[in-house]
Amino acid sequence: MPLSFHTAVAQSGILEAEETMSNWVKLCTAAQSPADGHAQEVDVQGVTICLARADGTLAAVDNVCPHRAGPLAEGWIEDGKIVCPWHAWGFDLKTGACPEEHSQVKVYPLREEGTDLLIDLA
Ligand code: FES
Repeated sequence: MPLSFHTAVAQSGILEAEETMSNWVKLCTAAQSPADGHAQEVDVQGVTICLARADGTLAAVDNVCPHRAGPLAEGWIEDGKIVCPWHAWGFDLKTGACPEEHSQVKVYPLREEGTDLLIDLA
């Protein structure tokens, strides 16, 4: 008898590996997320996230600027980047990259589930 897809995946160990590689937790409700062109700090499980919306798309990146630890969520959004309020390094909200300074912030996956906004902290 042929195995179902889920049984075959579970027996292969792939499903288990995928489950242990993610850590989806509630970040806030969708209604609490920032308006377009704005950013806000959200603390979740000991991590401070910069939650920002640019061109209608939400993004979550580490809130701590890798230059001198400026609070990114207190910066501004410009050309799809969150710009640090202290020395104006700009980090792309899709990739986390700041090519001009050869620097990077972590970008976290987001998804909506019902009225909640979830983040993968893995
Ligand atoms: S602390 Fe962010 S640019 Fe300097």
